[in-house]
Amino acid sequence: MIVVTGATGSVGRALAARLKGLDVVAAVRRPAGDLGIPYRPADFERPETIGALLSPGDRLFLNSSIWPGFADAHRAVIDLAARAGVAQIVTVSVRGAAPGGRLASGLHGIVDDHLRQSGVPWAILQPTGFMQNLPYDFAAGVMHGSYGTAPVNYIDARDVAGTAAALLTAPVGPGRDHVLTGPESLPHARIAEEIGRVLGRAYRYVDLPVPEMAARLETRGLPRLQAEELAALMADIGDGRWSSTTTTVKDLTGRPPRSLAAYLTDHLHAFSR
Ligand SMILES: NC(=O)c1ccc[n+]([C@@H]2O[C@H](COP(=O)([O-])OP(=O)(O)OC[C@H]3O[C@@H](n4cnc5c(N)ncnc54)[C@H](OP(=O)(O)O)[C@@H]3O)[C@@H](O)[C@H]2O)c1
Repeated sequence: MIVVTGATGSVGRALAARLKGLDVVAAVRRPAGDLGIPYRPADFERPETIGALLSPGDRLFLNSSIWPGFADAHRAVIDLAARAGVAQIVTVSVRGAAPGGRLASGLHGIVDDHLRQSGVPWAILQPTGFMQNLPYDFAAGVMHGSYGTAPVNYIDARDVAGTAAALLTAPVGPGRDHVLTGPESLPHARIAEEIGRVLGRAYRYVDLPVPEMAARLETRGLPRLQAEELAALMADIGDGRWSSTTTTVKDLTGRPPRSLAAYLTDHLHAFSR
């Protein structure tokens, strides 16, 4: 059986759709009848509820959003999966994850290291930012950031799901990190232009120095430290570290990752102001 956590999220929903009809179950914390696959109650805050769904030979998709208890909870689930005799864990991390890294990058780095040493066969997906963030980032037609002018890569979360589906349904291979990207990298000013071109109205990107961006994020409700880290992370990415592309999505799924234009065309409704 394939056990899918985070099944109601942007990656998980697309993965559930791809696994429909197979021996699969979603581990969810709320009823999820709209997923179209069987589901059972489970919560990362009580890792044993996920462990209880695991049997020898199962494949586990390990994925959730980030919260302060993320690393402890995910490590606990990995240990329970090892004890249950799970045949493979496929997890969603982030490009450049490393222990000690900023925000999600550091938490993922801790979990990734734990998984590599768990004894369970593993695959770690390391995607760039999701295109699915863009409607939120460009709410009201303007995005503020500290990325500067460097090209930045975004990937459609559906391609992360497609890659996970390929790995979860093929014979288990050697443990490997898979850096996943979309097909093109663009400066944020060009991303704004592209959104405007497809949607037929003006979109803008406004670049701010890190302290100003941090202050802006703080006024929007982020705690100060988190706001400072997020603005600094944008500037880190602005050094070009997310500008290269990989062929991993095509190599594993047989089809190229979706372009920004394709994502936009499929998600026009998400940009309604
Ligand atoms: N977003 C990006 O740009 C991006 C880029 C690279 C990597 N990533 C990584 O991708 C992963 C998924 O991100 P996402 O944006 O797809 O997340 P998402 O859409 O917010 O989905 C998160 C999923 O996790 C579930 N979840 C959260 N807390 C849970 C808990 N305590 N117990 C059970 N389920 C729980 C949510 O369930 P509910 O529906 O019940 O809330 C939801 O199904 C994260 O690890 C993130 O760091 C994201």
